[in-house]
Amino acid sequence: MTDSLENPHSMSYVDLLSYIEEVNRCPGGKRTVNNILMRSLLQDGAKVLEIGCNTGFTSIEVAKMKNCQLFGIDVNPQAIQKANEILKKEPDFIQERVKFEVGDARNIRFKDNQFDLVITGGANTFIPEKDRELAFAEYQRVLKPYGLLSVTNLFYHRDVPKPLLQKLNDILGFEIQPWTKNYWLDLLLQSGMELYWYQEKEMQARPSNVIKTYTNGLINQSPALKSLDDKQVQEFKSRWLEIMEVFNENHRYLSFMTALLRNQFVPEQQELFLEKGVIDPWNLNGPKLWKEE
Ligand SMILES: C[S@@+](CC[C@H](N)C(=O)[O-])C[C@H]1O[C@@H](n2cnc3c(N)ncnc32)[C@H](O)[C@@H]1O
Repeated sequence: MTDSLENPHSMSYVDLLSYIEEVNRCPGGKRTVNNILMRSLLQDGAKVLEIGCNTGFTSIEVAKMKNCQLFGIDVNPQAIQKANEILKKEPDFIQERVKFEVGDARNIRFKDNQFDLVITGGANTFIPEKDRELAFAEYQRVLKPYGLLSVTNLFYHRDVPKPLLQKLNDILGFEIQPWTKNYWLDLLLQSGMELYWYQEKEMQARPSNVIKTYTNGLINQSPALKSLDDKQVQEFKSRWLEIMEVFNENHRYLSFMTALLRNQFVPEQQELFLEKGVIDPWNLNGPKLWKEE
């Protein structure tokens, strides 16, 4: 263990959460994973790739419910190391279904047309804005024709104060913009993929005493911190509390989408009459009833 890994103030957010073993769930947690499973209609033996798997929550959840072959990649080696440690605690049949490895969304090592489902979520926000198109093209490249891309992404549904965004930047180490639902959908649909299914839910902040109790419990039970003295443990507690309070405030402005996009093979003609409440993927940014030449 290096010195920097024992100082919570010099650790990156992803290193820190992996180290203290906070379960990093996608927004909506198991409810979201269940939705993805129900909607994606995976067959036994299907091949699934998770991008930005962090410590492995989603991949392991999928493997518990479905006999498929899962690959989880993350650019952070500390997260992958922890994902493998967590996987080792699972029964053999889960371990046989899942593999975690270090990998970058922008340069996926797998060949074209390999996967029935690609799952991606929070990682897209972590990818620099200029590289996101490239990452989405990679997801599409590795999908089979009519394979599905699942995107579980947070987005801002109302104006967020700039000082709060600055605090988030400082914690995460990259620039956070008030990206909206249409920003993400636009980016996704530019790839030529078809919006197959979409749902969004609003997040909510929790009372501050819940945040404090949660942080105390998490840090007190963290296996990696057991060998540290009280002063060091206290440092972790105050750093994690600081982060959770900023995240909690941010949740007042956030919703998340679960979108399934299908890797279209033959382009589909525009659909005109839609039921109320669904997104019109042909007219995301206002009415444009037919694509003019
Ligand atoms: C907040 S976690 C995502 C957790 C969870 N999978 C979800 O759906 O929210 C974001 C993860 O994306 C990873 N990540 C960031 N850039 C990446 C990239 N270029 N390729 C793969 N993973 C990346 C980070 O290391 C981090 O573990």
